[in-house]
Amino acid sequence: MMKKEQNDLLTQTGPGTPLGNLFRRYWLPALLSEEVAVPDGPPVRLQLLSEKMLAFRDTDGKLGVIDEFCAHRGVSLWFGRNEEGGIRCPYHGWKYDVNGQCLDVPSELPESGFCQKIKLKSYPLVERGGVIWIYMGPPEFQPPLPEFEFATVPASQSFTTKRLQECNWLQAFEGGIDSSHVSWLHSGSLNSDPMFKGAKGNQYNTSDLRPVFDAVEAEGGLYVGARRNAEDDQYYWRITPWIMPNFTMIAPRGNHAVHGHFWVPIDDNNNWAWSFDYHPTRALSDEEMQAMKDGKGIHVRYVPGTYRPLQNKDNDYLMDRAAQKSGVCYSGIDGIAMQDASLQESMGAIQDRTRENLTSTDNGIIMARHRLLKAAKALAEHGTPPPGIDPQVQRVRSVAILLKRDQVFKEAAKDALRAEPGKPHSSV
Ligand code: FES
Ligand SMILES: [Fe+2]
Repeated sequence: MMKKEQNDLLTQTGPGTPLGNLFRRYWLPALLSEEVAVPDGPPVRLQLLSEKMLAFRDTDGKLGVIDEFCAHRGVSLWFGRNEEGGIRCPYHGWKYDVNGQCLDVPSELPESGFCQKIKLKSYPLVERGGVIWIYMGPPEFQPPLPEFEFATVPASQSFTTKRLQECNWLQAFEGGIDSSHVSWLHSGSLNSDPMFKGAKGNQYNTSDLRPVFDAVEAEGGLYVGARRNAEDDQYYWRITPWIMPNFTMIAPRGNHAVHGHFWVPIDDNNNWAWSFDYHPTRALSDEEMQAMKDGKGIHVRYVPGTYRPLQNKDNDYLMDRAAQKSGVCYSGIDGIAMQDASLQESMGAIQDRTRENLTSTDNGIIMARHRLLKAAKALAEHGTPPPGIDPQVQRVRSVAILLKRDQVFKEAAKDALRAEPGKPHSSV
């Protein structure tokens, strides 16, 4: 259970908030490259950490993210004309480049120097792994570029999507490090989903419903280990790394791809659930690509023309009571991602954590909250740079592994937890 002040601190990420300041120290996934692929193409609204921005690619192919609203009288530049090296406000014709610099104020004489003095807010961007990353923090603290493995393997080995999740980032993230729900909520899908089925590990998952959790501190965040009984004197371990503040990876199954998420706050009531699958040593097959595009694995189908899931709260996620009753699908909601999102959204926009009752399976969540609170406080009070910024700690992998019962998972799986180019992943 948490105090209200703690819950507020961990769920509010707007400008000037302690956790908002923390998030602003990292590169964050902002857009898929496909969203702004074309020079002079339509501009895209982008809201992150409660800031409203506009992304566009100019005539020369340069990409920019600037304040959404015109400096003249506040019109949304989403209505603007993207042409001849900038975006022009359709109201009175003020024009801006990708850095937010005003290029033209048609009503004023160029000699007046008026337009040079006008500049909209803009943020640095970098494109890697099919993702456009943004840094929204103080320029003097801009970190090295992100090194997460899904964004650095060859493009043929990786597939990334995003979906709107209509709740606060924290409860979505907490689902990402909560391996205990897999044996319940996802039990039906483990045996049928093409991105999961057939793995030996699935049997351990569904046969031992009392996993024991062991979360340990890691340099960039946590390793959340969940162990279940396996044959003889072995345990089946699933290890979920969390790199601060919002990157999680799910332990792999068999020779399937490895997957994980970034949970990026849009505002305090919504987040982008970024979902990636990659294989460290081989290209993803056509069948796998098609399955993910069809919403299998941790991906979803969309309302056409949007990144809002087709199954959403307005249609009760297309709940199928008959499938729920027969057990084909434990909750009656189709698909791993929407099984999670439906329940997390059902908690309300911001879960009231003053009323919860936690158990030992929630240890990882408790430790993560504590670490976030501590880091946000240290940054606010002493300017201490938060963990997880160093690219070294971002080169991490989730792990599924059988270990002897007396082995300490953090030590025994140390090598498997490190991402290295071309190294096979540890999976069961
Ligand atoms: S409001 Fe944009 S030019 Fe006037
Ligand atoms: Fe889940």
